[in-house]
Amino acid sequence: MTPMSKEYPFAKRTDWEMTQNELISQLDEARKSGKDIIDLTESNPTRCQFSYPKEKILKKLSAAQNILYDPSPRGNLSARQAIAQYYKNKHWNVSPGQIFLSASTSEAYTFLFRLLTNPGERVLFPRPSYPLFEFLVGLNDIKMDTYPLVYHHRNGLGQWSLDLDALRQEIQSTTKAIVLVNPNNPTGSFIKKHELEELNKICAEYNIALISDEVFMDYSFQKNNSKAVSLVENHKVLTFTMGGLSKTLALPQMKLSWIIVNGPEQIVSQASERLEIILDTYLSVNTPVQNALDEWLALQPEINKNILDRVMANRQFLVEQIRDFPACEFLEAEGGWYAIIQLPPERTEETWILDFLNEDHVFVHPGYFFDFLEEPYIVVSLLPPVGQFQTGIRRVLMRIRSTVNA
Ligand SMILES: Cc1ncc(COP(=O)(O)O)c(C=O)c1O
Repeated sequence: MTPMSKEYPFAKRTDWEMTQNELISQLDEARKSGKDIIDLTESNPTRCQFSYPKEKILKKLSAAQNILYDPSPRGNLSARQAIAQYYKNKHWNVSPGQIFLSASTSEAYTFLFRLLTNPGERVLFPRPSYPLFEFLVGLNDIKMDTYPLVYHHRNGLGQWSLDLDALRQEIQSTTKAIVLVNPNNPTGSFIKKHELEELNKICAEYNIALISDEVFMDYSFQKNNSKAVSLVENHKVLTFTMGGLSKTLALPQMKLSWIIVNGPEQIVSQASERLEIILDTYLSVNTPVQNALDEWLALQPEINKNILDRVMANRQFLVEQIRDFPACEFLEAEGGWYAIIQLPPERTEETWILDFLNEDHVFVHPGYFFDFLEEPYIVVSLLPPVGQFQTGIRRVLMRIRSTVNA
């Protein structure tokens, strides 16, 4: 028997940097040494002391019908009808035939990349955005390009826009999809109508699909979500819109997401046939959750209100604190679970974050975690309980004040 070589020949796509980043090491150390850290990065809603309608959620999991396994590649019709109804309540027209279920949005991305790209082909992602993309790209043997989201001021009001010229310049003959995160994590910016029109032109010209990640769509800061533009009804080019329970019901542990396919009829029909085979290969969505979906989605307004009330209260506190504090800028957003603050340039991003952690026992995300183009920025989750959030923010702002005035 040949001895196992020291370097086992694992697939190159798994050659990740395994050493822990400095920030996480220091966080672990602080916790181990017994420091009570206020975690303003917490974005797992099930750890943020929300009151969920527990009995109603759990009751359906013990239903007798869950014993029967009767898989359907696209997902159970009753579950897909419930999702269509959820969109109807938002006045968006989606039919169950357009809906495909997956166990998570991350998995849905993989299914779409398998459908749309060959190894080495390219997908465009927003920047700044959600850090998991880098892993999804690597695991699917594709290449990542980015297009910038730019923060600017108009009539004294800050807002984010897509840099469409920069996006155009990133397109190559092997670009197969453009990903939108709508609203984006962490910028909280929704796609605008004129941006979508332009994207439709670009995609039609180059035969590129749109993938719109709308997991945060229910968390608009506008009453009635009146400004939100969803891609569920976008039929001009091949379009995949994703949503899921991890945000819509704040139940990431239940593992159910969906993809809605839209676009020119013939392409949609071909895409759907192929996507169905991909899903049939895995059948990854569990039966009890699909059976529960219609009753669970009826709880969406109640759960959504609980979370949005907290998000709005924390956000309002932040706005008020920063209003009288010209050294920092609060970046405007339209939705989501996060807030971004631009810090004074006296320190690097890393130094600020480590100071907050080690001196003030508050943990916040650095902008570089989301691939910001500049620094220093911090990103905080708006989910933590209000008292905790306010204490954490007060400590951070005091540290900044004392550093800037030193
Ligand atoms: C923008 C965005 N998309 C997708 C996900 C992942 O969702 P899921 O839990 O359904 O995989 C997240 C998780 O935070 C996210 O922020």
